[in-house]
Amino acid sequence: MVPKNPRSPSSGAMNGSCCELEDGFPAVQLFGQGVSYTYDDVILLPGYIDFPADAVDLSTRLSRRRPLAIPCVASPMDTVSEAAMSVAMAALGGAAIVHCNNAPDSQVAIVRAAKARRIPFATDPIFLSPSDSVSDFGPAAYAIVTESGTSKSRVVGVVAKSDWDGLANRNTLVSEYMRHAPVSAPASYDFEKVASFLAGGGLEYAPLVAEDGEVVDLVTKEDVERIKGFPRLGVPSLGADGRFVVGAAIGTRETDKERLEHLVKAGTNVVVVDSSQGNSIYQIEMIKYAKSMYPELDVIGGNVVTVAQAQNLIKVGADGLRVGMGSGSICTTQEVCAVGRGQATAVYKVSSFAKEHDVPVIADGGISNSGHIVKALTLGASTVMMGSFLAGSSEAPGVYEYLNGHRVKKYRGMGSLEAMTKGSDARYLGDTLKLKVAQGVVGAVADKGSILKFIPYTMQAVKQGFQDLGASSLQSAHDLLHSEVLRLEVRTGAAQVEGGVHGLVSFEKKFF
Ligand code: IMP
Repeated sequence: MVPKNPRSPSSGAMNGSCCELEDGFPAVQLFGQGVSYTYDDVILLPGYIDFPADAVDLSTRLSRRRPLAIPCVASPMDTVSEAAMSVAMAALGGAAIVHCNNAPDSQVAIVRAAKARRIPFATDPIFLSPSDSVSDFGPAAYAIVTESGTSKSRVVGVVAKSDWDGLANRNTLVSEYMRHAPVSAPASYDFEKVASFLAGGGLEYAPLVAEDGEVVDLVTKEDVERIKGFPRLGVPSLGADGRFVVGAAIGTRETDKERLEHLVKAGTNVVVVDSSQGNSIYQIEMIKYAKSMYPELDVIGGNVVTVAQAQNLIKVGADGLRVGMGSGSICTTQEVCAVGRGQATAVYKVSSFAKEHDVPVIADGGISNSGHIVKALTLGASTVMMGSFLAGSSEAPGVYEYLNGHRVKKYRGMGSLEAMTKGSDARYLGDTLKLKVAQGVVGAVADKGSILKFIPYTMQAVKQGFQDLGASSLQSAHDLLHSEVLRLEVRTGAAQVEGGVHGLVSFEKKFF
């Protein structure tokens, strides 16, 4: 017997006498057949709509005590999540997890840089001293001149790239052509305040200075116009300190305890213990340690794909679980190790168990379109974690290059040989092994522009998916799933072809 959807007309007075027909499969039945399904294998059957798409509420939790306005998380990978990604994600209401494939002080510097900002920035600030000369200006339009040439001293001027471009002798000392610095704005100003600060003072640019005197950035009228050109920023992710929420990854080695201490001191709001297979004594000990040392800090464990794995991490206090093994776009784990699980099955199984313990699940990897996000969230996840989906954005680390006429950015697996030379082999428990075997590749992804533009459009698409399902929020989608009102089916190969654009001689696929 199909349970009734409380919102469907057949459950009300309209035709209360009618019996509903069995149609589609509840998730518990579909995922209980011994088949490992991924997102593309399954399709969600539509429900009943009685609300507009804009009424769908996508607010959620990253971990037990960390609310987010949108269910998006940037993966702790060195070609995805550094300061610019962290700030932009938090400005949108999501979060980024700063990777740990670097020395602890470099990771801490990234977290500090992100937490010091309230405005998504396009380029890292350049600092010069008056006695410097400039050999290469880079992509920024202005450089900040401070007494000592570092961020930690007083602003004495600004150098415009256009002025430097016009120099007959590029080696001219900065002091000879720098402009007087205008009045600074507090770094704690949010976008609206900075915009009116510039407009009110008729300023082209203004340095942003933190309470402790550190110069954080230089914001320009162009930056304000650029951000105004994107969809309106949502409800930002802010911590109790009033600053943006920034997450950070740690490993499971003894030395990661010291890394953790510095990250906590820098104000990190949530940590992810980053292992490809999280059900290990090393991770269990690290979660226990982190929870006992920093009870106020939410600690996310993973990665897991089975209930047994999840159980062990929840038992020692994990506040969130990262789910996915072998589903990442750059991942060769299933090929190399023959271990993992289809992502749809993994998300459904783990989140069904984690729900009983009030532990939110992050569906990690394999997201390449908004439909995958709808499926992940509907199958029980509270957020999705993305690598390739974000790696081509202007906020991802690295520079754009041209490959066969396409503008691309490098994107690499943390288990690729290249990334592992910097320390990420620990994620695969390979740091002590003599022979290194890759579980990931190095590649490139297309330029996607700013996440400030494509994430809001993606969220709009997700809202439309939820509306089709008759789910007005993540909670309502999870209720439909577990009450078995939500129905699914497996798609044949032909159904998957039919579900995409087909039969055309040519077409242009534009998302927005
Ligand atoms: P994507 O969003 O499909 O590109 O997948 C990103 C996810 O893949 C990350 O969040 C990690 O969980 C996982 N991952 C990152 N690097 C590797 C790797 O080298 N091998 C296997 N999985 C990886």
